[in-house]
Amino acid sequence: MKAIILAGGSGTRLAPITTAMTKQILPVYDKPMIFYPLSLLMLAELRDILIISTPRDLPMLEALLGDGSDLGIRLSYAPQAKPEGIAQALIIAEPFLQGSPACLILGDNIFYGASLDGTLAEAARLTRGAQVFAYRVSDPERYGVVEFDAEGRVTAIEEKPQRPKSSYAVTGLYFYDAEAPALARRLRPSPRGELEITDLNRAYLGHGQLRVTVLPRGTAWLDTGTPDALLAAAQFVQTVEARQGLKIACIEEIAYCKRFIDAAQLSRIIAAKYPRNDYGAYLEGVLKEQD
Ligand code: DAU
Repeated sequence: MKAIILAGGSGTRLAPITTAMTKQILPVYDKPMIFYPLSLLMLAELRDILIISTPRDLPMLEALLGDGSDLGIRLSYAPQAKPEGIAQALIIAEPFLQGSPACLILGDNIFYGASLDGTLAEAARLTRGAQVFAYRVSDPERYGVVEFDAEGRVTAIEEKPQRPKSSYAVTGLYFYDAEAPALARRLRPSPRGELEITDLNRAYLGHGQLRVTVLPRGTAWLDTGTPDALLAAAQFVQTVEARQGLKIACIEEIAYCKRFIDAAQLSRIIAAKYPRNDYGAYLEGVLKEQD
């Protein structure tokens, strides 16, 4: 399975913070936002990743992450000329996917929780249909919302409904089979002018091929859509990291622990990118602990 991070958008909701650069480069406490979805993909051992962003922001993302070889992964980049919808990512990614199933993650989605590893590993084995995740939130009207019947089966998904039929939002992490680009190409733009990911999920639901897994309440799915949410996400990361002395979404640590890179390579990264700073000191600690 290959993976896609969608990291563009118009940036209007967080302006002026995002007037000159895309949201996914903003810091969430001690690292850029995109490290969080990238680390999730790495934990799922998805190592062939396409990053899609605006033509303006791609060079900055590339300067940040490079071709991924220093992390033992492969990063490619593709532009989205205009923010014409999340489902468009699958059309843009079609030449990259070459018929492979895809995991799509939104570059502003932050997940944290112990049970995620197993859930992701299983989803990454998907070859038919689609898999999405639902998460209980207090403000479902801001998201795609799942409707369940009395037996707990999913009967519908609505995008930002005024009167949500449940409190379960669809998160920005999606797994699709090889049909997704073709299905995405058949979608029509919504009233807001976008190829909606909810419409793609509905297409799978209509074919009886959508699996919706409710994430357990012990999982954190953090919002980054408002200045308050962004600050709260940073404070969450700071709190957990300070308490444990372990970093969340440290991509170099994950690459090393997953054996994508060896100790010599991690030392080279520290020397080249993080000499004499706290992030580098943390990675030195990782090296010593694994000795
Ligand atoms: O976060 C989960 C939610 O994401 C889902 O529950 C919704 O069903 C889904 O539509 C989406 O809702 P949002 O309205 O929050 O999506 P937004 O327009 O904010 O875009 C999400 C991210 O994707 C954001 O970082 C910008 C990026 N993006 C978005 C669009 C529409 C792009 O890079 N290109 C695009 O064309």
